Amino acid sequence: MPDHEVLVLFGSQTGTAQDVAERLRREARRRRLSCRVQELDSYAVANLIREPLVIFVCATTGQGDPPDNMKNFWRFIFRKNLPATSLSQLDFAVLGLGDSSYTNLPSTFALQLFQDAPSMALQELTASSLDSHQPPSESQPFLAPMVVNQRVTGPTHFQDVRLIEFDITGSSISFVAGDVVLIQPSNSAAHVQQFCQLLGLDPDQWFTLQPREPGVPSPSGLPQPCSVWYLVTQYLDIASVPRRSFFELLACLSPHELEREKLLELSSATGQEALCEYCSRPRRTILEVLCDFPHSAGAIPPDYLLDLIPRIRPRAFSIASSLLAHPNRLQILMAVVQYQTRLREPRRGLCSSWLASMDPGQAGSIRVPLWVRPGSLAFPKSPDTPVIMVGPGTGVAPFRAAIQERVAQGQTGNFLFFGCRWRDQDFYWEAEWQELEKKGCLVLVTAFSREQERKVYVQHRLQELGPLVWELLDHRGAHFYLAGNAKYMPADVTEALMSIFQEHGGLSSPDAAAYLARLQRTVRFQVETWA
Ligand code: 2AM
Repeated sequence: MPDHEVLVLFGSQTGTAQDVAERLRREARRRRLSCRVQELDSYAVANLIREPLVIFVCATTGQGDPPDNMKNFWRFIFRKNLPATSLSQLDFAVLGLGDSSYTNLPSTFALQLFQDAPSMALQELTASSLDSHQPPSESQPFLAPMVVNQRVTGPTHFQDVRLIEFDITGSSISFVAGDVVLIQPSNSAAHVQQFCQLLGLDPDQWFTLQPREPGVPSPSGLPQPCSVWYLVTQYLDIASVPRRSFFELLACLSPHELEREKLLELSSATGQEALCEYCSRPRRTILEVLCDFPHSAGAIPPDYLLDLIPRIRPRAFSIASSLLAHPNRLQILMAVVQYQTRLREPRRGLCSSWLASMDPGQAGSIRVPLWVRPGSLAFPKSPDTPVIMVGPGTGVAPFRAAIQERVAQGQTGNFLFFGCRWRDQDFYWEAEWQELEKKGCLVLVTAFSREQERKVYVQHRLQELGPLVWELLDHRGAHFYLAGNAKYMPADVTEALMSIFQEHGGLSSPDAAAYLARLQRTVRFQVETWA
């Protein structure tokens, strides 16, 4: 047998796989390889051990069954007494040809629905998993009552920013300045209702989950048994923008020819610009897509929900308060995300809209699942290491926690650069800062960007105070912190800092860069930004 020989074995029902096999033979010949092509069941399998290279080209038929001309081979390779060594030396490739309309494409989980609600109510179900003494985490969040939800921007300001406070009494949660809180949001009742109607789901039904294959972990955060209402409210991210794979799977499940064609087009390699135009650019959500494909939505078997729709991800917020100033409390400063795309309905952030809609005064109001973890900012422990904190807008949040903590511990040398648009619209915690300044605990430098003709930003103030900034960093070992919106501000502030090193430290441009790199390496230059 010549060395460069390829054997192509095919299993074909309607001839497509045979066609592919023949194409392979032509390709092999073009490359000067000798190549034989043969139907699987006409080949004497005992000879396989002598083949240098085999390519199997296999179609499927019916609902994913082997074609007739490979049934014997199929039985043969599943034989229990197949000698383990017989084929282990074989060099082979498998080319499978499928049909995306197969409905028995298996889901990851089998979902068993039933009507009668278990005797426990839902809050008890989730609370029951909280009995352990572990600190709260993603799999065991603390259900915190919200006690403050207060708009802190002026009535005419373009942005709705809230001070939100949670009561964490009895949670065993503890945190220090720089830590972040993770919040697990829920879908709105209106969206849940709309989704259930579209899919023909009864929110009052219950279900249990069985993984179809061993070793698949059950989804964390879903109690068992679970109600359909809980699944849709707390777990399925129907307000997120769907990925390409969503369209692919929905197309497989769709019984409606026109819709299926459109879905296939959107999930195809050539449909990516159309998909971007339809979905990613205008930020169209899964729920809105399902409304556009009602026949497909109505035919989604509940088993596929967990394959089709991703889980709601927790959102991270910088903690804005210190336990030393507000025991048993956790505060955040949150901008309510809302913006317009070409779609008529404004886009709304799931978590911020959900939190902003809550009324803490209402008896029995919903509790918020949360837990904490370290962020990227850490503050010096020594009592006299100064800190320079630059936090325009909501970037000031982690620095409020740091200032409260440091003042409570008698740490001096607190320098805060804060920027906002207008003194009377978005100057967060103005009274609190003034109080601390009066006591000599804080040096506050403000930049009100829109109160004069020319924009004034925190980096301009930093540069004006260049000699002080250099002195604090170079002579007094200060730490430098930067937090806020990730767009241009961090780069602009870093650039201002570099020019201070050159102008007031007398460094050349490469030396200034090396100086900054050293600050970063020694964790004296720290940044926390968000989109
Ligand atoms: P602006 O909106 O008037 O442009 C908080 O958002 C503050 O940060 C606002 O005063 C905002 O000003 C300002 N800001 C916007 N872009 C900035 C940048 N690149 N660097 C520093 N501050 C910026």
